[in-house]
Amino acid sequence: MNGNRDFRVVVVGSGIAGLTAALEASDRGLDVMLLSKDELAEANTSYAQGGIAAMTASLPAGQSADTVLLHVQDTLAAGAGTCDDDAVRVLVRASAAAVSGLVDRGVEFDRAAGPGSPWVEGLEGAHSVPRILHAGGDATGREIERALVAGALEAERAGRMEILRHTMLVDLVVTPGRRVAGALVLGAGGDRLRELRADAVVLATGGAGHLYPHTTNPAVATGDGIAAALRAGAAVADLEFVQFHPTALAAPGCFLVSEAVRGEGAVLRDATGRRYLEGVHPRAELAPRDVVARENFRRSLDQGGRPVLLDCTGMAPPADGPHGGGTTAEFLARRFPTIDAAVRAHGVDWSREPVPVTPAAHYLMGGIATDDAGRTTLPGLYAVGECAATGVHGANRLASNSLLEGAVFGIRVVDALAADRRRAHDAPLRLGTDGPGLRPLPATPGEADGGVPFERHAFQAAMWAGAGVLRTGAGLEELSRRLAGFRLPEGQATGPAPTRSALEDRNLLTVGRAVAAAALHRTESRGAHFREDMPVPDPAQAQRTFWHQQHPSIA
Ligand code: FAD
Ligand code: SIN
Repeated sequence: MNGNRDFRVVVVGSGIAGLTAALEASDRGLDVMLLSKDELAEANTSYAQGGIAAMTASLPAGQSADTVLLHVQDTLAAGAGTCDDDAVRVLVRASAAAVSGLVDRGVEFDRAAGPGSPWVEGLEGAHSVPRILHAGGDATGREIERALVAGALEAERAGRMEILRHTMLVDLVVTPGRRVAGALVLGAGGDRLRELRADAVVLATGGAGHLYPHTTNPAVATGDGIAAALRAGAAVADLEFVQFHPTALAAPGCFLVSEAVRGEGAVLRDATGRRYLEGVHPRAELAPRDVVARENFRRSLDQGGRPVLLDCTGMAPPADGPHGGGTTAEFLARRFPTIDAAVRAHGVDWSREPVPVTPAAHYLMGGIATDDAGRTTLPGLYAVGECAATGVHGANRLASNSLLEGAVFGIRVVDALAADRRRAHDAPLRLGTDGPGLRPLPATPGEADGGVPFERHAFQAAMWAGAGVLRTGAGLEELSRRLAGFRLPEGQATGPAPTRSALEDRNLLTVGRAVAAAALHRTESRGAHFREDMPVPDPAQAQRTFWHQQHPSIA
């Protein structure tokens, strides 16, 4: 489809969401520019382990117990009453097509036997049936990223896509009529800021794990797209809902030990060897992720900070199962090669001894508010993937629904911007007509604010203490005070040649303040937002909340 080259789409971010959107837009003949602040493959996507949840009908008729309804129900149940039901249905109904799309782009999911045999379907927490496709055992994200990056490089070579590596989105360019018309970016190596013109900007900048000192996320996850959208005046939603993964290796770097390990039969024990989750939730270790994370956190506190233990030593794979038999060590190495190498590198033989694990910040359910096709509240601005809040995850994302989200909405956003272009005007998301409306957030942190120089470790420690796994009203009040007291270093984020780390610090502070405000506002416990002083869900608060910055300013 040529004749679209006069319509420039700037896609920011090269994880599953951004690459899917960029490839789809390029396939449709749009003029696509893809930006990524690091190497293309440096994205949360590359680290994804467990897999992608999808209704694929891969198994012969009658062998899969899964249905669209069941996947929708599991997603809504995990989301604890704050999902957007329609968006969830969109996500699940599109899952088979999205997986086919990935396969068409070269992704190879693990199969039971040779080529053409059914895909192996794994089980993770809060899923009623096994429905999670994986690749390379536990390297699903690496395989997806490999295939999509290869597609993007091919499009670049063929002149169908321009790629700017090591180029960071700093801010959005907004016209006086409040339309997004481009991006202000910083290139590598002491470059100065420059403006890229765009007819549509798609933010796919991923999450913000580095709000916290303990995270499974790579260093690029600093909430940049969300902060830029806030500064431009776009609405955000659900930011109080931060997912902590229950089982990161209790060692610097918080290497993830996938939930799929529990799906294969691993159990959690306290320091005395007791399986404590059996009395907490009927699904025990496969309870929703927020339940397991909270319990792990509490047990660790109860035992003086010593991590809890993930015990794989009793795992006995059946010889006729999809992964074959053999010893526990052989099974672990075959089914989870990446994790096997990582835990052994830390000196743990997990076939013989339990792995010390701890909760770590993993995923941001909230983000830039969008409709079910990536439209934000600003014309010309779209958002997809982890940086977006479509409402599919509610208060607690169902495991392995995030890769799916990137694959589904990465395509839908191109449908949306193409349709908006045909209509010759945008149809941005409108809030506040039948919902709770928009609430104001404190303004962007400035260099004149506060008295305490910003220091990332101090900021992250404050976030962990105040807006971590367990929260209280008093803790959130204290956090808000501390965050308001931080002063950003003069000129480093706002001068003509800012540094990447100063820009990231400003973004972390912006998003951290918004998380604290949203968490303080929600005076109940729901999903991943757990307040010890208000431990019970309040039915009157079973809805999403939307926020915007009171005085949008572009620094
Ligand atoms: P990302 O993949 O994070 O990509 C964001 C991109 O934006 C990156 O390229 C980054 O460099 C770029 N970027 C960021 N800021 C800027 C900027 N200012 N300018 C330019 N570029 C920028 N989910 C599942 O569904 N299944 C799993 O098994 C699973 N396992 C996981 C394991 C780990 C260890 C982690 C960390 C996450 C896991 N998740 C999993 C979550 C999932 O991987 C992510 O939510 C998903 O990949 C997000 O995709 P994305 O495209 O939205 O963002
Ligand atoms: C995991 O493999 O445990 C992570 C899955 C996810 O985040 O969805």
